[in-house]
Amino acid sequence: MPLSLDVQFTALDAAVQATTALLAGTDAKLGATAGAMDQRSGGTLTNAIKAAEFKGKLKATIEVLAPPKLDASRLIIAGAAGELEENDQVSLGGAIYAAITARKIKAASIVVDMAGASAEFAADIAYGALLRSYTWHRKSKKSDDDKSSGNGLQKLVIHCAKPTAAEAAFESRRGIAEGVALARDLVNEPPNELGPLQFADRIAQMSGSGLEIEILDEVRLRELKMGALLGVAQGSARPARVAIMTWNGLGASGSKSKRTKPVCFIGKGVTFDTGGISLKPGAGMEDMKGDMGGAACVTGLMLALAKRKANVNAVGLVGLVENMPSGTAQRPGDIVTSMSGQTIEIINTDAEGRLVLADVLWYAEDRFKPRFMIDLATLTGAIMVALGKENAGLFSNNDKLVSELRAAGHATGELVWHMPLSKAYDKLIDSRFADMKNTGGRHGGAITAAQFLQRFVRDVPWAHLDVAGTAMDSAKTDINTSWGSGWGVRLLDRLVAEHYEKG
Ligand code: BES
Ligand code: MN
Ligand code: ZN
Repeated sequence: MPLSLDVQFTALDAAVQATTALLAGTDAKLGATAGAMDQRSGGTLTNAIKAAEFKGKLKATIEVLAPPKLDASRLIIAGAAGELEENDQVSLGGAIYAAITARKIKAASIVVDMAGASAEFAADIAYGALLRSYTWHRKSKKSDDDKSSGNGLQKLVIHCAKPTAAEAAFESRRGIAEGVALARDLVNEPPNELGPLQFADRIAQMSGSGLEIEILDEVRLRELKMGALLGVAQGSARPARVAIMTWNGLGASGSKSKRTKPVCFIGKGVTFDTGGISLKPGAGMEDMKGDMGGAACVTGLMLALAKRKANVNAVGLVGLVENMPSGTAQRPGDIVTSMSGQTIEIINTDAEGRLVLADVLWYAEDRFKPRFMIDLATLTGAIMVALGKENAGLFSNNDKLVSELRAAGHATGELVWHMPLSKAYDKLIDSRFADMKNTGGRHGGAITAAQFLQRFVRDVPWAHLDVAGTAMDSAKTDINTSWGSGWGVRLLDRLVAEHYEKG
């Protein structure tokens, strides 16, 4: 559901809402504004801090009810001790949002008054709160609705030293948050409502934000000879689509300089993965509505780049199919010919994501000659065996891209772990009957899947992110309580901002 929290910025001396959060630094040291409130109330805040033995530990909170002589009737003191990195500030905003919404209220203030607190600090707090405010459900009862959507909080006022500068800094963050929310929505939506056509329609609706949208239908996909992608789709009553989103932040200038070449993102969009004829076991199959998490991230990222008017040319492509068992479904033993001309023996119809990506990767490099390609896919259960849910698997043919992605991961908290590729692994997918088979053996399943993808990449820096553990069924964090996390939007937005917008 779209973000609905109204975020405003105002001066430190403006009147606060009845519920107000304050920050406390190392040893619970209060900022000037909070210190003045403490004095006016006869030391109520410092007394409460003492009584609770509160030391200002990052994200710890205490609540002070009905302090005398203050406008606010409920104060939350939130710990912000230590040297905060950017992502700490964002997480702190999320934690404060959670503390505020523990009670049912409509409006709240957060006072960001610590010594040296920048406009970016205030914007980060607001950003974290906005990300945390996201909810998604289809419950019919209003009371449930109130409970899960931040207890009904509608307005958040950030009090800070430079409200105009903070608001300006928040503008781009709001754009990114909208991209994250879109990615979460797409992952959360049920597969009856979000098939390939509906996904493509949702993308088409984004053209208002300045993105150019192109949808390739089945006729076109057949003309392009995307036999690997179409083989996956053929078991479903719902036809496949490939959607292309273009953001020309540098203008579509004719020059072919390095700078105007687009950066390129590609997403696996299997709107539901039954496994096909190699049918998955029933338990937990409902989770496979999230098998379009890679495509959701690419879509959210493209919206974010457009919303914040990124100074870059970018293109996002998503391969949208449903993997179903039926009389028309592809079989183990089938041999399909990909757009590249390479032939693939299908061993397991449940290894479908790589088939979809094979054709989209080939097409993307062919048509856009990008600066780099990064694909995201909920590709293998094996990546969760290797890394759990704390890191996405990162595979790449380019060390520069690896270090840039790792740095962006650290900055945003969306972590990636570098995994190996090599000839020896590649050999495991050679086939007796075709150029390759679509599964390796039992071991190194995430790696052989990545080796498969690499066979469809030619001369361009490329990275593959296996997001099976991070895109869906996510652990709750300070900035996300949703099943679909929107993982990767912030990571890749940061990658672009740090390294591809400046020259
Ligand atoms: N979509 C799944 C991978 C997946 C599993 C994502 C669990 C999220 C949670 C993928 O299409 C798949 O089925 N992969 C198989 C590959 C195997 C058949 C080689 C797998 O991981 O078991
Ligand atoms: Mn599968
Ligand atoms: Zn899948």
